[in-house]
Amino acid sequence: MKMAPLSVYLAFYTSLFKGLAALAFARVYTSQRPSTRDLNGQVAIITGANSGIGLSIAVQLAKQGATVYLACRNLQRGEKAVDEVISKVGEESKGRVHCWQLDTSDLNSVRNFSKRWREERTKINMLVHNAGIASPPSGSPSTTKDGKSLVYVTNFLGSFLLTHLLEEHLAGDARIVLTSSTGHHAAAEMPFLKPQKSTPTSPPSLFTRLKKSICNTLGLEVSSAPEYGLSKAQQVLFANLLQHRLSSLGQARTAHVFTPGFTSTPIFGKFDVTWKTWLANPVFSALKATERYVAVSTDEGATTGSWLAAGEVRDGGGYWEWQRRETSLVDFMRDVLGEVEFGKRAGEEWGRWERDAGVQWECPV
Ligand SMILES: NC(=O)c1ccc[n+]([C@@H]2O[C@H](COP(=O)([O-])OP(=O)(O)OC[C@H]3O[C@@H](n4cnc5c(N)ncnc54)[C@H](OP(=O)(O)O)[C@@H]3O)[C@@H](O)[C@H]2O)c1
Repeated sequence: MKMAPLSVYLAFYTSLFKGLAALAFARVYTSQRPSTRDLNGQVAIITGANSGIGLSIAVQLAKQGATVYLACRNLQRGEKAVDEVISKVGEESKGRVHCWQLDTSDLNSVRNFSKRWREERTKINMLVHNAGIASPPSGSPSTTKDGKSLVYVTNFLGSFLLTHLLEEHLAGDARIVLTSSTGHHAAAEMPFLKPQKSTPTSPPSLFTRLKKSICNTLGLEVSSAPEYGLSKAQQVLFANLLQHRLSSLGQARTAHVFTPGFTSTPIFGKFDVTWKTWLANPVFSALKATERYVAVSTDEGATTGSWLAAGEVRDGGGYWEWQRRETSLVDFMRDVLGEVEFGKRAGEEWGRWERDAGVQWECPV
């Protein structure tokens, strides 16, 4: 691999440093400006919209006049969120705020949602993939029924399949937006970005064996942080490749991905922190411990997402933070690897997604 120009490293590490600084100091930043575009007559689907960032995006888009579909795994929680949107936006929004069942960790649920959409609905102007988990619920399996990582399917694969199945229903100027994370940078050690140091048959490294043995001895759960980081990097790569696809087909549709930074939401109440969690998953534990003092409000964290969904940016494929285009790990790797090697690896990754989702979807690179 050739050494990339210094400017590439500078852009990436500046972006990474800004992302890390935002985790700690975003509260002192100037507030973002929400979009004021008129979205009357436009339709949005937002996954994981019954709480946190997804709910905030739903409120903002509904305020701008859009018809919003809250795609939630639990209908009771979803209907409660519909009431909350209406109470925040006003009675006039009744009739254009809906909740449909969708469990992104279950590909059959994704297929059912898409089938229902095909039968009942028209064009989608905004498709916001926001549903996500930081880790599998404590004490429950970390894999789906067919043995795939729950974090991977919930945070990424369900969105990949949903986009594929709904592609023909996207409006000519549709915006596809994914809620990623600053944590996507931590995927640097992951196989699709770095050549695997070991083959599947080679023995695990001393460090891996030592870590495993300590975890076993202390009865620690395996940290989901690497899987989370990877799922968030997959979202960034997907937005990038999807944009290639849309542009190469000559379409005006765009794909964007953003990080909300460190945002106060119910996600931090979904896992318990004990001394064991501090050892196994220090990053999530530290975020949970400091949320109240450091994280920004849910609406602030959601603003870049609703702003992108509203169509404020016509140049797709990018990674956004605080309404600024930043250098993602994927941008960095493209420059470091060069187009040919990057295209090869990205193509292999896309192929894995296709196989895992059980679809054929022509790779854009
Ligand atoms: N908060 C942050 O600091 C932060 C930072 C970086 C990235 N993010 C990302 O932001 C997104 C939203 O998270 P949040 O912070 O707003 O937390 P949240 O309030 O817990 O929202 C997550 C949403 O996703 C839904 N969800 C989880 N699993 C699902 C599934 N299998 N099918 C459908 N929906 C599912 C949740 O539904 P239930 O209510 O039923 O669980 C909830 O509505 C996530 O992708 C997260 O990774 C958050």
